[in-house]
Amino acid sequence: MSDPIAYERDGDVAVLTINNPPVNALSQAVRQGLMTRMDQAEGDAGVKAVVIVGEGRAFIAGADITEFGKPPMEPSLPDVIDRIEASPLIVVAAMHGVSLGGGLEVALGCHYRIAVPSARIGLPEVHLGLIPGAGGTQRLPRVAGVQAAIDMATTGRHVKADEAHKMGAIDVVQDGDPTELGIAYAQKLLDDGAARRPVSEMPAPEGIDWDATYDAVLARGRGQIAPAKAVRAVQASVEKPFAEGLLAERDIFIELMNTDQRKGMIHAFFSEHAVSNLPELKGVDPRAVDHIGVIGGGTMGAGIATAALLSGLQVTMLEMSSEAGEAARGRIGGNLAGALKRGKISQAQHDAIMDKALQVSTDYAALSDVDLVIEAVFEDMAVKKQVFTKLDDVCKQGAILASNTSYLDVNEIAACTKRPEDVIGLHFFSPAHVMKLLEVVVPDKTAIDVVATGFALGKRLNKISVRAGVCDGFIGNRILSTYRQAADQMVMQGASPYDIDAALEAFGFAMGPFAVADLAGLDIGWAVRKRKRAEGTMPDGATYADKMCEAGNFGQKTGKGYYDYAAGAKARVPNPDVMPLIEEDRAGTPQRTFTADDIVRYYMAAMVNESAKVVGEGIARRPLDVDMTLLFGYGFPRYRGGPLKWADIVGLDDLLGDIKSYAETNPEFWAPAPLLEQLVAEGKTFDSLNS
Ligand code: CAA
Repeated sequence: MSDPIAYERDGDVAVLTINNPPVNALSQAVRQGLMTRMDQAEGDAGVKAVVIVGEGRAFIAGADITEFGKPPMEPSLPDVIDRIEASPLIVVAAMHGVSLGGGLEVALGCHYRIAVPSARIGLPEVHLGLIPGAGGTQRLPRVAGVQAAIDMATTGRHVKADEAHKMGAIDVVQDGDPTELGIAYAQKLLDDGAARRPVSEMPAPEGIDWDATYDAVLARGRGQIAPAKAVRAVQASVEKPFAEGLLAERDIFIELMNTDQRKGMIHAFFSEHAVSNLPELKGVDPRAVDHIGVIGGGTMGAGIATAALLSGLQVTMLEMSSEAGEAARGRIGGNLAGALKRGKISQAQHDAIMDKALQVSTDYAALSDVDLVIEAVFEDMAVKKQVFTKLDDVCKQGAILASNTSYLDVNEIAACTKRPEDVIGLHFFSPAHVMKLLEVVVPDKTAIDVVATGFALGKRLNKISVRAGVCDGFIGNRILSTYRQAADQMVMQGASPYDIDAALEAFGFAMGPFAVADLAGLDIGWAVRKRKRAEGTMPDGATYADKMCEAGNFGQKTGKGYYDYAAGAKARVPNPDVMPLIEEDRAGTPQRTFTADDIVRYYMAAMVNESAKVVGEGIARRPLDVDMTLLFGYGFPRYRGGPLKWADIVGLDDLLGDIKSYAETNPEFWAPAPLLEQLVAEGKTFDSLNS
């Protein structure tokens, strides 16, 4: 490999340019190169200052994550940074793009920092289950203060150059070429007779109430430990001399490096990249999409339209009547007003979208020129077929016809058109302009460039796109339906909805399944059950859930469901009417006690078993596709990596044992997934199928 650090002289200044595409990660070769080039600069007669700069799109995006979990290779990053800081020469970091994690730590090891206005800095280690491990928690508080350091180290957020300048992390913000800016700044420092300025020699900052801060950060992390540990590391910067603070930081870093949370987070990082990177799409050009049609302006359709408009697409919304069209326009307007309020768009952009980019019509002919149309109408096959037949008639040759169905057979929908190769499922999650997940559902006859277009659209809309095969519920809703049934089984066997929610929220889910049901509205399931009973596909007789609805308890929207929301959504308390109804239904079912651990194992066993079936049947390509679906669409805790990563970590043997024991009383529901049995027999993990 060519030398990743170029060395050049400009008068008194040596320029060290890091060239390790795509983002100048601090690989072993880069670390070694920085050491060698610092030696070279110091031995180069006449050199009085060093500028460190990044080639390409970033200064440095941090440690090389691909090296994590492998044996450490010398020189270590802390040693490199100490080496830079200890240099007798003045060292300047000239920053552009991102300076993240170890990248910011390198910059803080330099004596001065200059950045272009578009530069961003951050300590994103918490997103990998870690804290900064090369002095970031010790040096940043010394230049930016404790509050700023805690904010950055616990949230991992990117801070723009201006803000970083105000907090003291960057000395100068100036527009221009980073290398030229760095050289000019270094020269000015030399001309001014400026001294070296090692951050480690700066005084320790003022302390704060550490325990209160630690507790608050721990609570916010919903079980994730790294952010709270970052608070303790920053505390060390205040309470210990610099060298001892560094050791304290290192100890915490190593402790976290060995946790399952770190494994889960790094799996999530790489899977997030891999999930949309499908080998079969390499070299396939997507069709051009500038103008899309959306059919149906309810919450889902309006959300899809909003996401498209925010990404710069032109949207034609089709509704059944002008009143419904106006209501849809109102919903989209409301979504855009939110984006305006949060600073995502300017007033001028907002107005241009509402006045020009969005059209609302009641006439299918308005869709004759769209490149892609997404249907988001009522979930009924007959209705969908009517819509697709009309679309087939009016849409231009080559236009893609997409359904947002969440469980219907997209092959059947495609078959009612004369162009099944142009039909695809694009399953968004509500609210579609907020939720990150997009299932790209691929029926049998879909052309490969249509699949590529689905993924390209997902990228444009800033979604995490997952390829799914056709089955009832695709990847996500099929697995959801199974683990939701497991929750209901536990209720019948003796666990209360409140114990179940508490156990799963402690596991890391944003909300337990019964709190989610209250949020979604209990009347939706009630309507489905009533319809199924009328069709004869479900046994007669009201269950406790029906009786809750009969009493008008639909969840949050009526103020009562499983919980009573009189004091607000966050101050929910159990609804006392629910348990007596459950008790009536439990008659005749053998009862047992469930600990929090029992609840998690039962629920997760159902989730993993169905996930394994979904992978085994090819509905999901790889285990990581399931993991990303659950992470981005179903509130699965990121620090656990996803259900199949979690399964690998707890051990597939044990899980299969659980499933077999549950199968003794309910063999049909708990039939072990053949893929799970195969992996156990071969002593393999789900992860072995990801590469
Ligand atoms: N190490 C190795 N590879 C990295 C990397 C890193 N730190 N950061 C990004 N990459 C890779 C990505 O995996 C991706 O590879 P593929 O093209 O093969 O998928 C490629 O670089 C481009 O990344 P993105 O597609 O994400 O590009 P982007 O422009 O959307 O985002 C980014 C760029 C903001 C740098 C983003 O990649 C990112 O946030 N990376 C993670 C940065 C990070 O977490 N740094 C801290 C590491 S821990 C540390 O530094 C402290 C320590 O001491 C251990």
